[in-house]
Amino acid sequence: MKALVLCGGRGTRLRPLTYSLPKQLLPIANRPILAYVFDHLYAAKIKEVGVIVSPESHPAIKEFLGDGTVWDTRIQYLLQEEPLGLAHAVKVARQFLGDDPFVMYLGDNLLQDGVLPLLNLFQSERVDALIMLKRVANPTAFGVAVLDSQGRVGRLIEKPRDPPSDLALVGVYLFSPRIHQVIDTLKPSWRGELEITDAIQELIESGARVKPVIADGWWLDTGKKDDLLSANHIVLETYCLRQLAGTLKDSSVEGNVNIAATATVTSSRITGPGVIGEGVKIENSWLGPFVSIGDGCVIKNSRVEHSVILKNSVVENVFHISQSLIGREVRVRGNPDTHPNLRLLLSDFSEVEF
Ligand code: G1P
Repeated sequence: MKALVLCGGRGTRLRPLTYSLPKQLLPIANRPILAYVFDHLYAAKIKEVGVIVSPESHPAIKEFLGDGTVWDTRIQYLLQEEPLGLAHAVKVARQFLGDDPFVMYLGDNLLQDGVLPLLNLFQSERVDALIMLKRVANPTAFGVAVLDSQGRVGRLIEKPRDPPSDLALVGVYLFSPRIHQVIDTLKPSWRGELEITDAIQELIESGARVKPVIADGWWLDTGKKDDLLSANHIVLETYCLRQLAGTLKDSSVEGNVNIAATATVTSSRITGPGVIGEGVKIENSWLGPFVSIGDGCVIKNSRVEHSVILKNSVVENVFHISQSLIGREVRVRGNPDTHPNLRLLLSDFSEVEF
C-alpha cells in the first residue's frame, strides 16, 4: 500500500495568504495541516508516499517534509506542472504507484479518525475503490454522491449546481490499480480538469466495486478562511491540553491552554482552548478562546479571539480582533483611543495601522 498526498493547486480561495505559503502548510493549532495528514499515514504504517507538488509549492513543501524520516516514510516528490485535476495528479504519479493499491489524501483535508479504519475496510472488502462521504450544508462546493436504496453508489457529480444529495466526497480515497485504466480514457470536465469524481463514476460503470463509507467523525476541508478557523476551533477543542510551560507574571489562564516554554505572559488573561508558540510575548492583553499564536509573535494591549496568527507577527493596541487569519511577519498597530472590532485576512509581511 502506497500513499499519494496532493500538495499542488493554487490555493485561490485562501489568497492572499497562499501567494507566499502553500495552503497545506497553513497551521491549525500551530501545526501545518500537512503534519496531521502525515500523522495519519504514519498510524496506518504507510512507508512509501508520493507527494504531488506544483512548481510554486515544491520548495516550501519539500523544506517542511524533507525525506519523510520524521514519519518513518520515504517520500518521492512528483511535479504536476499545471493544476489539471486530481485524476491528472494520479496520472503524474503513474510510475511511482506502479501496480500497488494506494490511498490518495488531499493535503488540505483533515479527518478526525485518520485513514487506518478505511484501509482495514478496503483490504477486508477487496474493493476497487473506497470513498468516504460526509453530509454537508453546502454540497455545491464538493463532489457529491447519490446512493441507491441498498446504500451503493449510484452517481457521482463534481460541484453540482443543483445538488441531488448532501453527501460530499471527502478528500481521502483508496484505490486498486484498476483506477489507472479509467483515468487513461477520461476527458476533462467543464472546468478543464481531469476529475477524480468522474474517474470513480467510470469505475462504477465498468462494473468495478466501489464502496462508500459515511464518516462519523469530523472532516475539515480547509479551503477558505472560515473553514480554516473552524478547523482550528475543532482541533483545539479535541486535542489541546493544559500545559503551562512558559513564564507567567500577574496573569490568569483558564481552561486548556498550551503555552510553550519560552513564551512570556505578563498582566494578561488567556481563555482556552488555545496554543501559544515558542518565544511569544503577551502583555496586557486578553487572548482566547480559540486562538493559535505562532512562534515569535508579540501581542500587546490587545484583545484577540477565534483567530490564527502565524509566526513573528505583532499586534499592538488593537481593541478587538476576531475571526481573523494573519500571516507571518505582519504588523497590526492600533490606537488606544479607538475601539474597532476587526476581522482580518492578511498575507505575510502586511502592515496595518489605524
Ligand atoms: C476536491 C474534489 C471534490 C471533493 C473535495 C474535498 O475539490 O474535486 O470532489 O469533494 O476536493 O475536499 P477541490 O478542493 O479541488 O475543489
